[in-house]
Amino acid sequence: MYATRPEARPATVEVLVDGVAVLVPAGASAAAAVLLAGSAAIRETAVSGAPRLPYCMMGVCFDCLAEVDGAANVQACMVPVAPGMRIARQLGARDALMPEAGR
Ligand code: FES
Repeated sequence: MYATRPEARPATVEVLVDGVAVLVPAGASAAAAVLLAGSAAIRETAVSGAPRLPYCMMGVCFDCLAEVDGAANVQACMVPVAPGMRIARQLGARDALMPEAGR
């Protein structure tokens, strides 16, 4: 049953994780969306290419670095989802000066 108060937020938000639509609770982080999507990895390390998934969920481990709406090196656990947000796997190191598309 949905809340009927006009100020209530929608219960879910649709985002894209590696191009796949995923419904996540409003207010959840992009990292939570990655985990809900069942992704095998959200990034690969720059040196060995080892797969990584969000771990600490509080901005400490950096294992959740991803491309969010075209911006690389985003800590997905620190970004709340927004309708239509595009979260994509980040492979290896990214240029720190890469322009942030869509921001
Ligand atoms: S999950 Fe550890 S910094 Fe995001």
